[in-house]
Formats: sequence, C-alpha cells, structure tokens
Amino acid sequence: MRGVLLHGGLGTRLRPLTHTGPKQLIRVAGKPVSQWVLEDLRDAGVREIGVVLGTVSPLRVVEYYGDGSWLGVELTYIYQGYPYGLAHAVYLARDFVGDEPFVVYLGDNILAGGIREYVERFLESGADAMVLLAEVEDPRRFGVAKFDEGGRLVGLVEKPRVPPSNYALVGVYMFRPPHIFRAIEGLRPSWRGELEITDAIQRLIDWGLRVDYAVVEGWWKDTGTPGDILEANRLLLDEKIPGARLEGVVEPGARVEGRVVVEEGARVESGAVVRGPAYIGRGSRVGPGTYVGPYTSLGWNTVLENVEIENSVVMDGARLVNAGRVVDSLVGAEAEIATSTGLPSGHRFIVGEKARIRL
Ligand code: TTP
Repeated sequence: MRGVLLHGGLGTRLRPLTHTGPKQLIRVAGKPVSQWVLEDLRDAGVREIGVVLGTVSPLRVVEYYGDGSWLGVELTYIYQGYPYGLAHAVYLARDFVGDEPFVVYLGDNILAGGIREYVERFLESGADAMVLLAEVEDPRRFGVAKFDEGGRLVGLVEKPRVPPSNYALVGVYMFRPPHIFRAIEGLRPSWRGELEITDAIQRLIDWGLRVDYAVVEGWWKDTGTPGDILEANRLLLDEKIPGARLEGVVEPGARVEGRVVVEEGARVESGAVVRGPAYIGRGSRVGPGTYVGPYTSLGWNTVLENVEIENSVVMDGARLVNAGRVVDSLVGAEAEIATSTGLPSGHRFIVGEKARIRL
C-alpha cells in the first residue's frame, strides 16, 4: 500500500497565513497538520508516500520533511503547481503508485481515530475504491454520498444545494489501479474549473466497479478556515496530550496547571501562569505577567510578555508583548503585537494583505 499526501492548493481561505507558507504546515498542538497526517499514514503501515506539492512555498515542505526518514517514512515529491483539482493531483501520482493499491490523504484533514482499520479493511476487500464518510449537520460545503434503499453507495455529489444525505466525504480515499486513472482521463473540469475526485469516483460507480465506504467514528476535521484551525487545535490538545510533559524550564514562581507540554528549550518564567490543555513550543519564552489559558498552542521561539491569551494558535517566532487580552486568534510566524511606550496613545499597525484585526 502506498500513500499520496496532497500538500498543494492555494489556501485562500487562510490568507494572509498562506501568503508565505502552505496551510498544511501550520503547527497545531505542536505539529504541522500534515505531520499528523504523515504519522497517521505511517501508523497504518503506509511508509512509501508521494507528497504532491503546490505553488505556495513548496520548498518549505521539502525543507521540513526531507526524505521523511526522521518520521519513519520514505517520501517522494511530486510537483503539481497550480491546483487543478484533487483528481488532477491524484493523476500526477500514477507513476509513483504503479500497480499498488494506494490511499490518498488530504494534507489538511485530521481524523482522531486514525485510518489503520480502514486501510486494513480495504486491503482485505478487493474493492476498486473505498471512501470514508462522516455524518455532518450541514453537508452543503462537502462532497456528499447518495445511497439506494439498500444502503448501497450509488452516487457522490460535490457541494450540493440539496444534499442527498448527511454523509460527507472525508479527505481520505483508497484506490486500486488502474481504473481510477482511466476514470480521471475522461473527466472534464467542473463549474469551478477543477478535476473533481468525486466525479472520478462517480465514474467508477457508473462502470459497475466496486466502491466501498466506511463511516468514521470519532471526530474528523478539515482545517480549511481559521475557525477550523482553532477547532482542530482544541481537539488535538484534548486527544493527543494525555498528561503534563515538562521538558523545558518552569521557574520557581511560575504556575503550570493541568495538561501542559513545555518543550525542551522553552521557558515559563516566574510570574507566568499556564493553564492546560496548552502547548509551549521549543525555544518559546512565556514571560512575567503572562497568562496562557486553555487551548493555546505556541510554536517555536515565540515570546509572550505581560499578555493574556486563550484558545489561540501562535506561530513560530511571533511576539506578543503588553498586548492585553488575546482570544480566539491565529498569529502568524514572526508577527508582533505589542504596545508602544512613550508615544502618543493609539493603535499602530503594519497589517498585511487580508489580515483581520478585531479590537
Ligand atoms: P481545498 O481546501 O479544497 O483547496 P485549497 O487548499 O486551495 O483551499 P482554498 O479553498 O481555501 O483556496 O483542498 C483540499 C486539500 O487538497 C488541501 O490539503 C490542498 C489539497 N489540494 C491539492 O493538493 N491539489 C489541488 O489541486 C487541490 C484543489 C487541493
């Protein structure tokens, strides 16, 4: 079984964060989203993985993952460039997968329970494809499954106005070559100009091939929007941080309560309070007068001083100094939020394109 990790796309809904890096590299609960994906693939026994790269800083992905050996996987990079659709990305992986069955995993999706059991089920099944479904309240922004009275999967509809069921397609698909590639070759771009994987799977169904499905238990999160990132961060902190792990320095006079990770090289200084679940990344400094509240993840080398922060994700090298109370926020790498001292009062900004600030 081989893996195909989709690491392209434009990530427009996450601008400005995606002006300088792919959304899949945003670190939540200590790891980039796509690292959670790679580890999930590895834990399902999938070690040879093709990583499809897009136009948003693809070299940063190669720099971060390298050949994958540090994660126990073997990576091959495949360049897609402009995102012509999931089916287009899958088609580019055809030489990489050869004759082997393979699993496609969207690099911005996270499944709490992992995919191991589904991979095993697919390998035993002999099916031509298998999709994963999750029950959702409002399926209109997803690909949605259509069943006959016998519960057989008979169709897939992309972002329907009137959904045929409440079962949305999760971003994990399994295929046995070669039919899927034949199906993609016959596709035409959809109304949004993309080659849709749902249309390709629909063709497999129409050809009478066997397309199985499984309904995932536990949560599944597609991290396409800022709200999704914050939710994924909460879910991962709850799920993956079972207890406190204090490998950095917690000074006397600092308080660290509950499920908190303080990574090596991080420092919680006297007069700071951290209340879990929270994650303090390598090299970060939580200074005096700071309160880091539940569901906050700090990246590497962040600096917080005299600030209260809760339910937020702060990326590498960001600085928050005398910044008041910060909630429900995403702070990009090397961004700075600080009060100016000695200057006339007023907010002073250098705000990037599509930045969002609520005061
Ligand atoms: P999307 O979230 O649908 O697309 P996007 O990343 O361009 O986001 P936005 O709508 O905000 O602009 O993509 C789902 C996943 O698949 C994501 O991990 C990116 C990846 N992808 C590719 O690798 N190639 C593609 O051609 C497309 C469309 C997506």
